[in-house]
Amino acid sequence: MTDSLGVAVIGAGMAGKAHAAAYRAASTVYRPTLPSIRLVSIADINTELGAETAARYGFERHDADWRAILDDDRINVVSVVVANFLHREIVEALLAAGKHVLCEKPLSDSIADARAMAQSARAASDRGVLARIGYSFRRAPGIAFIRELVQSGRLGEILHFSGRYWTDYACRPDAPMSWRYQGGPGSGALGDVGSHLSYVAEFISGDVIEVSGGRFHTSITERPKPLGAVVGHTRGNVSDETAPVENEDYAAFSARFAHGVGTLEVSRVAAGHPTSLMFEVFGSNGAARWDQRHPGEVQVIVHDDDDALTGYRTVQLGPAHPGFAGGWAMDAPGVGVGQNDLFVHQARAFLEEVAGIPESESLPRCATFDDGVHNMEFLAAVAESAAQGGATVTVKEH
Ligand SMILES: NC(=O)c1ccc[n+]([C@@H]2O[C@H](COP(=O)([O-])OP(=O)(O)OC[C@H]3O[C@@H](n4cnc5c(N)ncnc54)[C@H](O)[C@@H]3O)[C@@H](O)[C@H]2O)c1
Repeated sequence: MTDSLGVAVIGAGMAGKAHAAAYRAASTVYRPTLPSIRLVSIADINTELGAETAARYGFERHDADWRAILDDDRINVVSVVVANFLHREIVEALLAAGKHVLCEKPLSDSIADARAMAQSARAASDRGVLARIGYSFRRAPGIAFIRELVQSGRLGEILHFSGRYWTDYACRPDAPMSWRYQGGPGSGALGDVGSHLSYVAEFISGDVIEVSGGRFHTSITERPKPLGAVVGHTRGNVSDETAPVENEDYAAFSARFAHGVGTLEVSRVAAGHPTSLMFEVFGSNGAARWDQRHPGEVQVIVHDDDDALTGYRTVQLGPAHPGFAGGWAMDAPGVGVGQNDLFVHQARAFLEEVAGIPESESLPRCATFDDGVHNMEFLAAVAESAAQGGATVTVKEH
């Protein structure tokens, strides 16, 4: 196993800081012991933000230009956490320079670029260089537990899945224009949070086969131009001038999966829901549900109980559930788990794979770029369905 790994994060925005914090904490969760992790660089064109983030999370330096990372032999592992349209150029350059890359979702803003990136990832893999994509929810203990219930047959035959990812970052008209509102249909709420929900839906219900009933809607069609840097979901500090919103605030569709059918709905204008990924899966012997607002618990119903006792029960997650025991410093039932923890587990899973720790001793591996392409093909089918007035569209086999 390698003695030490040098890490860099490109992008110090909302999710970039989560990656920086995660690399810092990755050695403190789970076993076996990771190689020593050297926190080397945070790269962001916003130098003030880059400097502040590097100082805050203990990185040695910040770079105004991400290209400074390419030639730095001390850096082995890089997270790419910038706007989706920038992913391809940066990821391909990093892979060519021999850096292991963890790219944020969605893989890109276009399928053509995503496919090219997957091709670059395969070529890099032949040289022992890893390219992975972060779908952090796959390691949420509640979601992993429900997947186990499904796969073990405990819920019986899976009949249907109902999932929503409601957010409210765009519900106020003074949320400024940013990269999130630019790009074609499907690159709005669907690409942003629908990439997570669709990934979770397949994680639970198996591969998607076809989608139908696609509907997109843009509620706020113009946004004010920002007067300063826009980071994450910041609001205010806007000009009187506006620019057109190019993609959807809302998307809904139904789908047929390998196991059952379902409906999925995403929104960035759902007031009161800063980030609410929630789903319910129904089987012939019970059902289960998970809600991001209460991520330390799941609700389960199984029909094995007496009729008089049959009903949803709330189960507090703990060491009996996947990914919990030996994970946190305090891994007792009921201590909970939050979205920031999922970034730590994701960073750890990636570092374990880079370090050559066998899969059997590691957290579940991160997804591949081929998985990232499939996810984009799934979402592109939804966009095609919406463009064709809700027609049924087959999704290419995974
Ligand atoms: N997994 C998750 O839960 C999650 C959550 C949020 C965002 N994301 C993903 O993370 C990525 C970034 O999203 P965000 O919300 O952090 O965006 P953001 O707008 O908050 O931050 C992006 C950062 O990139 C910087 N930047 C822009 N151009 C750059 C360049 N050429 N070189 C270096 N830095 C540059 C900006 O200055 C900004 O600080 C996206 O792909 C998004 O989909 C994932």
